[in-house]
Amino acid sequence: MKVTPLSAVGGAEITGVDLSRPQSPEILAEFEKAWNEHLVIIFRDQDLTADEQLAFAGNFGPMGERGTPADQRREVDDYGGAVMLVTNQKDDDGNYIGTIPEGELWFHSDLSYQEIPHKATMLHAVAVPDIGGNTMFANMYLAYENIPDGLKTKLAGRRALHAYDFAMTERYDLDKGLDDIQSCWQPIFVRHPDTSRTALYVSRLMTALIEGFDRAESDAILSDLLDIAEDPNIIYEHKWQTRDLLMTDNRCALHARRDFPKDQLRLLRRCTVKGDQSLAAAA
Ligand SMILES: [Fe+2]
Repeated sequence: MKVTPLSAVGGAEITGVDLSRPQSPEILAEFEKAWNEHLVIIFRDQDLTADEQLAFAGNFGPMGERGTPADQRREVDDYGGAVMLVTNQKDDDGNYIGTIPEGELWFHSDLSYQEIPHKATMLHAVAVPDIGGNTMFANMYLAYENIPDGLKTKLAGRRALHAYDFAMTERYDLDKGLDDIQSCWQPIFVRHPDTSRTALYVSRLMTALIEGFDRAESDAILSDLLDIAEDPNIIYEHKWQTRDLLMTDNRCALHARRDFPKDQLRLLRRCTVKGDQSLAAAA
């Protein structure tokens, strides 16, 4: 196998492996090492069934269950919530067969609105458009480093409210209350359990409020943090190839999707690995 970095801020390509077969502990340790170093690893030229993809993901921990409530899921078989089809594909009646079918998707970290987020998200490219639909990954270790010292001190030890409404692809409006959606408080600065590095943990799609400030102040601080989190200098932008199997680390990277032509098919099969409760970085 060969590991080739794809940018200075994240993303590495791994070639020379066949993930449809069981992997040795030594090889799995190499994958983990590359993942911890590059945040996002991409295995090219894989052709995995859903079962094979789930089996490979199982090497990294217990399966994550998607956040979408069961009665709002469109997938015909989502393996008990383990599989999400991120696609604009429609069935014969013209109904979408999957989730977040079209358009741009703002930066977020999967399941940050739950106490136990997904640590890994694994996406397998079954069909990709000729243009558009790239996924961007922002390095939250570097985002943390880029926060001015004064702001770091102001936010040290604080939490932020993450909230998500599955009917929307924008930030949740807190005036609507929290009763009907999923939400939870998360540390603003988290410590990665494996690398021990500190990462910023807020996102444009899912972070609604910063603890200890009124709404106006919170919005102003959040706006500054999101500018830092979405700095193009800390983003790896992935152009999909069919048969890519990509694994991103939600504890230290945000992801977002660019728009793509509606008349082109895009299908990514997603599964996740359950993580642990987020660790607050030392103040
Ligand atoms: Fe996501």
